[in-house]
Amino acid sequence: MIDLHCHLLPGVDDGASSISESLEMARIAVHEGIHTAVATPHFHPGIYDNSIRSLQATFTEFTHALVKANIPLKVRLAGEVRLTEQIINALPASEIPMLGTYKGNDVLLLELPYSHIPPGTENLLQWLNRRGVIPMIAHPERNREIMQNVNAISRLTKGAVLFQLTIGSFAGSFGVKAYETAIALAKKGHLDVLSTDAHNLKRRPPLTKVGLSEVRKWIGDERTHSAIEELPRAIIS
Ligand SMILES: [Fe+2]
Repeated sequence: MIDLHCHLLPGVDDGASSISESLEMARIAVHEGIHTAVATPHFHPGIYDNSIRSLQATFTEFTHALVKANIPLKVRLAGEVRLTEQIINALPASEIPMLGTYKGNDVLLLELPYSHIPPGTENLLQWLNRRGVIPMIAHPERNREIMQNVNAISRLTKGAVLFQLTIGSFAGSFGVKAYETAIALAKKGHLDVLSTDAHNLKRRPPLTKVGLSEVRKWIGDERTHSAIEELPRAIIS
């Protein structure tokens, strides 16, 4: 499996806190069937002031440590970008770390606030589309507005958009409501990519097996394979 969303890099956000924790998370990821992981540190101005340039040294250190520890995990660097007005300023300068491309467009992992879908989100998504960017919405099943009414997702589907659901949501790791919302979104067809969004060893390790066996019950083997292998591969190739 290709994990398009995880916080493996040490000390750059609220993910792994040390290189040894990063390496142990990588070992677990491989054991869980992940062969390629895209590290997606938070890009959230004023909270996590990461940039592609500032992350490069940590990423290089991590890739070297993986080789030294003989852990067969391929890694790439992108980011999880919080929806803020700063995106509009950062995009032209190519300061935004894209996951890859899909159908000739860049793919951006975009995180909404957990509380709601901010007013104007529809316009921002379409603005991104016009600039050749397809937003991939991170874990919509944990947005409270969507959890309260799954039909609120329609505000996000006016243009080209992809949805990344978190595997742990299907394992019940984020509570009953996130579990039910994840299933409802999957059944409505709003599930394009499944990722771990792993953060640490204790509470959010990169586990896949329980969640994937649950998700297969709802969408079948073929769609599950597309969400963990085929579409992620198309995006990063
Ligand atoms: Fe994340």
